[in-house]
Amino acid sequence: MEWQQKKGTMSAPARSVFVIDDEEPLRKVLNTHLTKEGFRVIQSPGGAKVFDLLRTNSYDLVICDIKMPEVDGAEVLDYVRTQFDTIPIIMLTGFTDIAVAIDVMKKGAFDYLMKPVRKDDLMATIRRALVHRDLLVRNKELEAENREYQQFLEQKVRERTKELNVKAMELEGAYGILKNMNVQFVNVLAETIEAKDHYTRGHCNRMRVLCVELGRLAGLHGEEIELLEYASLLHDLGKISVNEAVLNKEGPLSDDEHRHIQRHSEIGEKILIEGIPLMESVARIIGAHHENYDGSGYPRQLKAGEIPVGARIIAVADLFDAMTSDRPYRKGLPTGDVIIEMEKVAGTQLDPEIVRLFIDHRLHLLNGGVRANA
Ligand SMILES: [Fe+2]
Repeated sequence: MEWQQKKGTMSAPARSVFVIDDEEPLRKVLNTHLTKEGFRVIQSPGGAKVFDLLRTNSYDLVICDIKMPEVDGAEVLDYVRTQFDTIPIIMLTGFTDIAVAIDVMKKGAFDYLMKPVRKDDLMATIRRALVHRDLLVRNKELEAENREYQQFLEQKVRERTKELNVKAMELEGAYGILKNMNVQFVNVLAETIEAKDHYTRGHCNRMRVLCVELGRLAGLHGEEIELLEYASLLHDLGKISVNEAVLNKEGPLSDDEHRHIQRHSEIGEKILIEGIPLMESVARIIGAHHENYDGSGYPRQLKAGEIPVGARIIAVADLFDAMTSDRPYRKGLPTGDVIIEMEKVAGTQLDPEIVRLFIDHRLHLLNGGVRANA
């Protein structure tokens, strides 16, 4: 028993018992028994002073009479239960108080003893009470340790979350840099294509601006817009394989020359898929940018919804930019004429919904602005 071990340990302080009873002879008997057993005993005949003594000392156990003239034992019990939840309290009662004894048990007394108190009963009850007290104290310590550990864990989680947030921001920054580099590379590639085709200077950048805006209006967002941006810059990538003399020929092209140029959409798709497999979606858009809405385009004669939306957007922007641009053999057409032409081919060559978005949102003004900056 822990209380017995403490009794035999020189360094452990004696356990203290607070005895409250208005009968002095009984207090003396209890004092004698308890002192002999190694307890430190504090006595009180009762009254309001009891509460001061409870507040100003620490006790391992309280033994209290139920029936006292000034302050009733039930009041003391109530005070100890509410203020010192780990101190057990044993109530003392005469034979006639049995109903009251049961009542105090219900109110939280550890046990009760009948007067006259027998030493054996007293010591057995005290032993049980002190074991109970030790368990309560240990339980409280464990609860406190648990709370402390919980707080430690919460603190750790907060610190880790903070670290992860910092890492996430770093990653986001790094991703931004990589994305920027990606766009720059694609731009360099687009300019390389333009360098080969003398008459399309600035075309890729104008296409990028028009396509991104059309894409937003068509309900694309996030990655879809990003892919469309790359595809608009690289849509004529395949022209890298087209004979420069044919590409820059002034005057009408022969059928063979037409077929030669028409291969650029397929070749661009192939170059990109083989070179950068991650850009497959971009490649598919590039491969379909000369498909017509009614299925009369090339290379696969796809129609309407079979054509990736990015390719349908590029086709609209491409036609507008090509018709408004100057060529060595002709001047660029006025915007109004080009819009009339776009309306004419809406539903055959071009996706009518995309054409509608272009016209309703006056995107020709956007193109003019970009052209001025080119
Ligand atoms: Fe093209």
